[in-house]
Amino acid sequence: MQMPDGLPAEIDLSRPSAARVYDYFLGGAHNFEIDRQLAEQIAAMTPNLPATMRAGREFLRRAVRALLDAGIDQFLDIGSGIPTVGNVHEVAQAANPKARVVYVDIDPVAVAHSRELLSGNDLTGVIHADLRDPERILAEARRLDLLDFDRPLGILLAGVVHFVPDADRPADIMATLRAAAAPGSHLVVSHSTFEDQPQEMLDAQRLSARTATEISLRSRAEITGFFGDWTILEPGVVHMELWRPESPSEVAENPERFGAFGGVARNDQPVG
Ligand SMILES: C[S@@+](CC[C@H](N)C(=O)[O-])C[C@H]1O[C@@H](n2cnc3c(N)ncnc32)[C@H](O)[C@@H]1O
Repeated sequence: MQMPDGLPAEIDLSRPSAARVYDYFLGGAHNFEIDRQLAEQIAAMTPNLPATMRAGREFLRRAVRALLDAGIDQFLDIGSGIPTVGNVHEVAQAANPKARVVYVDIDPVAVAHSRELLSGNDLTGVIHADLRDPERILAEARRLDLLDFDRPLGILLAGVVHFVPDADRPADIMATLRAAAAPGSHLVVSHSTFEDQPQEMLDAQRLSARTATEISLRSRAEITGFFGDWTILEPGVVHMELWRPESPSEVAENPERFGAFGGVARNDQPVG
């Protein structure tokens, strides 16, 4: 297959990639015919999925704007995917051209596309790493020298912690990340849940447990626990659409239909 101009050779265009399928659902430009074909098949089987992904990205965008309003100007976005439509650095740098963003993803395709997309943007960086190794993420982020861990940081974990099963101790991972963040830092989490979900959805989830990308659905209480002792901001840990919608008309009658909770918390420990 012909390599489009500027794409690094390690990007495999002969097979569909989950990252590019996701990009297609978001309306991004970093996907190819082979990805679009798979995306259409997936959308036919799970009609709610593209809308769920878009709702997830919308939640992230609203949360990033809230962090910018709170004065946060540096972000660590873990499980970032391909930073395309409505991505964090665009939202952040539109409000504050000096905002810095470090993207982290486990998927080599997402990382390669991210590097290509962000080349020339000196205030962004990309790390290929696994959320299950938070010490490595923090060490690599420090090595990039883009983020100042002595100042308030925005840690973003949108749609990614549910990929970490209980056996990999997600609460400990979250505690490690929180411990690295200075007072005034904010944590954004969105996470799939079984709460308020119809039986069909839970049955489909049981089937997905047989695949490599099993998702651990968690309760609102478990997801709330990921914020530790940080102060959870209004309106709390809620169905994503209900988190500070920009207009009431944005919220449908059944905001639980995306099956994911979102929340934002702040580190209110005294400086010192
Ligand atoms: C549903 S997408 C979310 C993308 C983006 N955060 C958003 O909200 O639009 C989940 C992303 O998490 C990444 N991911 C899954 N498990 C991961 C892990 N253990 N460490 C880092 N990234 C992971 C996937 O590769 C994918 O890009």
